[in-house]
Amino acid sequence: MELLHSICLVQLLSALALTEVTRFTKCPQFFAKSGKTPTIFQGSHYKQICQRLNNQYKYATLYDTKKRIPVYSAYKYVATKNCTRRTTWDIEPQLDDSTAGAEMGPESRVDRNVRGLNQALNNDYDGSGFDRGYLYPVLQNDDQCYVNATFTLTNAAPQDLSFNRGKWKKIERKIIETLTQYCRGIDSYIVTGVVPGNNFINGNRVNIPSYFWSAYCCFDNNQKAIRRGGYINCNVKDTTDPKEISVRELESNLTNNYRVTFSVFGGECL
Ligand SMILES: *[C@@H]1O[C@H](CO)[C@@H](O)[C@H](O)[C@H]1NC(C)=O
Ligand SMILES: *[C@@H]1O[C@H](CO)[C@@H](O)[C@H](O)[C@H]1NC(C)=O
Ligand SMILES: *[C@@H]1O[C@H](CO)[C@@H](O)[C@H](O)[C@H]1NC(C)=O
Repeated sequence: MELLHSICLVQLLSALALTEVTRFTKCPQFFAKSGKTPTIFQGSHYKQICQRLNNQYKYATLYDTKKRIPVYSAYKYVATKNCTRRTTWDIEPQLDDSTAGAEMGPESRVDRNVRGLNQALNNDYDGSGFDRGYLYPVLQNDDQCYVNATFTLTNAAPQDLSFNRGKWKKIERKIIETLTQYCRGIDSYIVTGVVPGNNFINGNRVNIPSYFWSAYCCFDNNQKAIRRGGYINCNVKDTTDPKEISVRELESNLTNNYRVTFSVFGGECL
């Protein structure tokens, strides 16, 4: 009886630990000024993931387990390089099963019975006509380990093919150009996110975002923000040139869209 009791207690404690996933406090280095996170939505279906691969944290994602897409990924920018793309995508096992580990991995790490309950799977995207649109992209990266870590479905959302390969790619490049020109060698942060839409792929499983957005900010050695800006675009084919807006404009747009006062860099970079 006593033994049973303590077994139950252990299970309860690990269940409590599970609901926490990993909190952003475990990986503050991916946010402006080491911890100025974007707004974290309330509600138990929003999970803070410190994205881990090979036992190292690589970036951070706020994930919506109901819509099965991220809200945003936050990361540091260093440089860009042509790294090799992986051909397979991981998932976040702990979202479906607390005992399956707090590191991204192949779908096979999660029992078939619970796999995909709280996140998108590869077969949601296959044949959907949508790209797995990265939030933290391959392009804004100079390290193969980090590029490998971008290949997890918690870092992706259904993205219109021609938008992804056209205008959105231009936006990713524009941000690189700006950071290369004005922020070389200093702390540079990027947050990339989506606004959910009204449609889904694979029945009602994975939300198709209405917008993709991205913002950057870099700091001089006195921790003063010296360059910042952002972009937001509809998730549709668009042949116009990317138009940069201020972080303030972006935040006001997102505040309207999310219906929650939204800050991208925790009140910094305005
Ligand atoms: C990556 O490859 C493309 C095409 O081969 C080239 O234009 C670009 O300069 C390369 N970028 C880097 C950072 O090496
Ligand atoms: C990246 O992933 C590929 C394919 O899974 C693997 O072969 C390679 O060793 C990984 N590279 C690093 C640096 O982790
Ligand atoms: C936000 O930006 C998008 C893209 O430019 C625009 O279509 C939309 O109307 C804006 N929404 C608000 C509420 O400002």
